[in-house]
Amino acid sequence: MPSVNPLTEPAPTTAELRQNLPLVTVRDLRVAYGDGPLVLDGVDLDLHPGEVVALLGSSGSGKSTLMRALTGFAPVTSGSVRVAGHDVANLQRGELRDLRADVGQVFQQFNLIGRMSVLTNVLTGALHDAGPLNLVGGFSSAHRRRALDLLDRVGIAHKAKDPARSLSGGQQQRVAIARALMQQPKLILADEPVASLDPRLSHTVLELLQGIAREDGIPVLVSLHVLPLALAHSDRIVGLRHGEVVVSGRTAALDATALAPIYAHDEEPRDVDDRA
Ligand SMILES: Nc1ncnc2c1ncn2[C@@H]1O[C@H](COP(=O)(O)OP(=O)(O)O)[C@@H](O)[C@H]1O
Ligand SMILES: [Mg+2]
Repeated sequence: MPSVNPLTEPAPTTAELRQNLPLVTVRDLRVAYGDGPLVLDGVDLDLHPGEVVALLGSSGSGKSTLMRALTGFAPVTSGSVRVAGHDVANLQRGELRDLRADVGQVFQQFNLIGRMSVLTNVLTGALHDAGPLNLVGGFSSAHRRRALDLLDRVGIAHKAKDPARSLSGGQQQRVAIARALMQQPKLILADEPVASLDPRLSHTVLELLQGIAREDGIPVLVSLHVLPLALAHSDRIVGLRHGEVVVSGRTAALDATALAPIYAHDEEPRDVDDRA
């Protein structure tokens, strides 16, 4: 690479500077439920705008707890958690609601209201900024237009009037992603979003999340239990084992040896080829 003369190089753009500032900073985080043992033990994590970070680890390693810690749902014992300017471990009165409005969430079981239309499900994402509303007729036409645009973006605008439960799993997860976008999140957390989907649909849902991270500049933290999916769809990988970060690095730089500590000494060997 040619060297750069620092006296003549152009100043970084605002976008470049923003790209480098983490939206999420977790430092030396410890979490214990009740009198139980530490389930997160000294975790550090940064999430930057526009990147997809895959969170890997065996069942019970603390993936969901780490995600919960980012939205103020985990019993933090010590350490710091900053999310979009919120000091999550020391939230001021009323700030919890603002924090949760800033974080779009996607779950393994989609968590849609099955009997309600796809459009209404997406509109519920707007409740974060509108406060409690009557679900029937309570949304503005601007909200409806935005929800339809988002359904178009995730490729299922033609299903807007169908009850959510009539959709396939992959389609339901697209609705859930549109719902998360409806709240105009600064961060997206996806906890095992493809664990209920077949391999082909898993790839398309993860591609959708990648596109959102890139195009909207939103960091996406996605927990996965299938290594090839993480390798194919993340910029960085963070591996947890017994509540500690045992792997952290750019996905492209991690090989099988580097990733081995995540599943080391598991009783059952991981079948990494079962879904991708
Ligand atoms: N609400 C809870 N109360 C007590 N222990 C919990 C609770 N949630 C999770 N744990 C424990 O914390 C550890 C980490 O769990 P979790 O964060 O769900 O891991 P993962 O998502 O990686 O499977 C596990 O030992 C689990 O049993
Ligand atoms: Mg979990």
